[in-house]
Amino acid sequence: MGRMELARAQELFEQLYSGFSGYDIARQEKERLGKQEAATTYGEVIPPAFHDVMLAAAPQAGEVFFDLGSGTGKATMLAALAFPFRRVVGIELLPGLGDAARKVLSHYDAQIRPHLGPEHQEQRIDFIDGDFLVEDLSEADVLFAHGTCYGPELMGKLTHKLEELKPGARVIMAGQTLASPELVFQKMKVMKTDWGSALAAVYKRR
Ligand SMILES: C[S@@+](CC[C@H](N)C(=O)[O-])C[C@H]1O[C@@H](n2cnc3c(N)ncnc32)[C@H](O)[C@@H]1O
Repeated sequence: MGRMELARAQELFEQLYSGFSGYDIARQEKERLGKQEAATTYGEVIPPAFHDVMLAAAPQAGEVFFDLGSGTGKATMLAALAFPFRRVVGIELLPGLGDAARKVLSHYDAQIRPHLGPEHQEQRIDFIDGDFLVEDLSEADVLFAHGTCYGPELMGKLTHKLEELKPGARVIMAGQTLASPELVFQKMKVMKTDWGSALAAVYKRR
């Protein structure tokens, strides 16, 4: 179920994301912080493919979306534009990417949101600088993790964290699989990305 036609969401999305590159920001941030681990390898969603995998998680009106490793916020902003979430949250480790996402959000608040309907006016959008292993995910109904480069240790800890989600929460895990009796496999999709394509698996917290 969508709140806005994909074509319109994509048009607004392109306005928001013209003129800068998440890849450049990620590279600079990794140098500045001396963080070269694989988990911070950058990559972004592209709207139609992300929209398609989101449909597989069946977002419902009033639910809450989290992107675990949100980069410049592309998945989070698309979720906000195209789906009827009450709240969307992006969590990102590299603060320069979080700053870029918050700049996009300021542009959205000033130039785009005022022209949209009441559901978009009331929707809450947050970009948090932090570690998704530490942040509180208890409010989440639909989660996305574009984790192609998340290593085995990080995936083990993330799986543990996701086992604590509320019953019925859906997780879209791109580029990895989750092995836990608490997370029941629902569907697999091929998701095109701006770097190639990833398998995206949808799980439901039991
Ligand atoms: C492949 S990018 C995905 C960006 C965005 N979700 C998208 O799909 O367009 C993965 C992001 O996860 C971030 N990341 C890796 N480990 C993290 C952690 N423990 N907590 C928060 N962010 C993390 C990386 O810095 C990177 O920006």
